[in-house]
Amino acid sequence: MGLRSIILSLLISKTVILSSISTFSSRRIQCPYGVKVMVEPTYEEMSERACEILMKKLKKIAGEKEEVVLVLPTGRTPIRLYELLIERYKDDPVWGKVILVQLDEYVGASPEDEESFQYFLKSRLLNKLRVKRFIGINGGAKNLEEEVIRYNELLKELGSIDILVLGIGRNGHIAFNEPGFSSQLNFDIVELTEETQKVNGVTYEKAFTITVPYLLKSKFIMLLASGESKQEIIERTLKGPISKDIPASLLRGHPDCIFILDEVAATKLITPIRP
Ligand code: PGA
Repeated sequence: MGLRSIILSLLISKTVILSSISTFSSRRIQCPYGVKVMVEPTYEEMSERACEILMKKLKKIAGEKEEVVLVLPTGRTPIRLYELLIERYKDDPVWGKVILVQLDEYVGASPEDEESFQYFLKSRLLNKLRVKRFIGINGGAKNLEEEVIRYNELLKELGSIDILVLGIGRNGHIAFNEPGFSSQLNFDIVELTEETQKVNGVTYEKAFTITVPYLLKSKFIMLLASGESKQEIIERTLKGPISKDIPASLLRGHPDCIFILDEVAATKLITPIRP
């Protein structure tokens, strides 16, 4: 399907929820990939949609419980989402119930290090919002084993994640769970693939990450993907076999997971509507 046809379809229905591999529907329904898939025309609209869904969920859960456990990713994809959260909801009282938990971190990147994910979260969100509590990973910890034990205990105390937002790596990683991951702990140290180091422009060889078994226990999961570099992996994640070789494909077994994509990232999911 050419870009023009996609745009045409999008003009008819600004937000597209894929209802099958070959047709569009403007209704939110379960699609055959095992997760809901929502396609927005642009990165900006994808970010806006994610912002509204996230705030709606946060408020709903905050109405039912004293604390909401929220895990947010770093990377290029969520940047606009975080700007929108600040622009639109900075002073919302819901943040007072949020326990924000860091998802992953490079081993060797301390919180003050500008390359660290904690620095990213603090400079883009945490320094501008008042959350109830922040649980961060000390990437610069001298004793790595102790840091793994400490974080595992914290995650155990939390029980499970209420809302998990994820990006996706070009190789299908979620957080730093690379293809073929094996850890069964809730949180562990893993090796980074050369591809991930290259794409992220870093030389760190290892990273801390919340692992797949704990991520999959989250009550609600929202994965964001934007742009051409994600086309192939989105297709393999949703249309290929469910396998540890594509960690994101395991989300297809989750009961409440939505992928929010921009049109370019979703290109390979879309086949023409025959006249
Ligand atoms: P990106 O990273 O948002 O910068 O593409 C996603 C990821 O590697 O998980």
